Amino acid sequence: MEFAKEIREVQEEILRLKREKKVFIMAHYYQRPEVQAISDVVGDSLELSRKAVHLDEPTVLFCGVYFMAEVAKILSPEKTVLNPYPQAGCLLADMALPAEVEKARRRHPNAKVVAYVNTTAATKALADVICTSANAGDVIKGIDAEEVIFLPDKHLGSYHVRHGVNKKVHLWDGYCPVHKRITVESVNRVLDRYPDAQLVVHPEVSPEVAEMAHFVGSTSQLVRHIAASDHKRFLVGTEEGTLFKIREAAPDKELLLPDPIPVCDQMKMITLERVLVSLREGLYPVEVDQEVAQRAKVAIERMLSL
Ligand code: 13P
Ligand code: SF4
Repeated sequence: MEFAKEIREVQEEILRLKREKKVFIMAHYYQRPEVQAISDVVGDSLELSRKAVHLDEPTVLFCGVYFMAEVAKILSPEKTVLNPYPQAGCLLADMALPAEVEKARRRHPNAKVVAYVNTTAATKALADVICTSANAGDVIKGIDAEEVIFLPDKHLGSYHVRHGVNKKVHLWDGYCPVHKRITVESVNRVLDRYPDAQLVVHPEVSPEVAEMAHFVGSTSQLVRHIAASDHKRFLVGTEEGTLFKIREAAPDKELLLPDPIPVCDQMKMITLERVLVSLREGLYPVEVDQEVAQRAKVAIERMLSL
């Protein structure tokens, strides 16, 4: 992708400062293309959590919603983790408050809590194990309990209940408002015009849309699936930022998005200018309460060991 001259100038300054200050930049697929382009690594939540553990640089600049930067800090407490705009939060993560999780635990005393990585550190600290969209089914199957509270995304949880998890699962009533906008209608509006397009979706979509899809996977799994496929045209049912990396990995594919296009405004709050200010001024260092961080780390490491 060709960027305008002004964008290129800011990118060059970011790359210069990054080298000078020995900062490693990580970005989620839903980031703006110009932000992804200056990042050392772009990935899904699972890949980014794994990467955070093995970095040489003393500082990580995390371009993603706040909980993602928190995970990097929890896993690498000795590093400085910067987030260019901490107000960028995940609307799904805010749907499971710690007090509600404690209440659910009292209601289901025999159940273990599997928390999706899209949760705050305080909620993770109350979970037995964390999962991401790339490994949720394996984590639910792998945990040593026959009864599970799965939070906060009911669609991700119900997808795995419908596809192979043979346990009693109490689903939280949370959802991602961005993926909720990917409806049967918004998908059919495009499929009516391009009936040969293969529908691939993120598991945060509703069951009706997931069951229409040819492939369901995390953002990285979608990128890899499309790159490896012989099919030419795809309708991609997730946030539009993902298309930037798919185009790099599979330039010969024709990519379509649902109508209207799904955009996570929270992810898009991280702009190139904010990344530059963050690098220049060391803003904003992520801090997690030590006790919360230690408990959350145990739950995240349990996932990484599975
Ligand atoms: P991934 O686990 O695919 O990175 O998705 C995270 C997310 O926020 C999806 O909306
Ligand atoms: Fe959260 Fe949804 Fe945005 Fe993902 S797309 S960060 S789940 S609000």
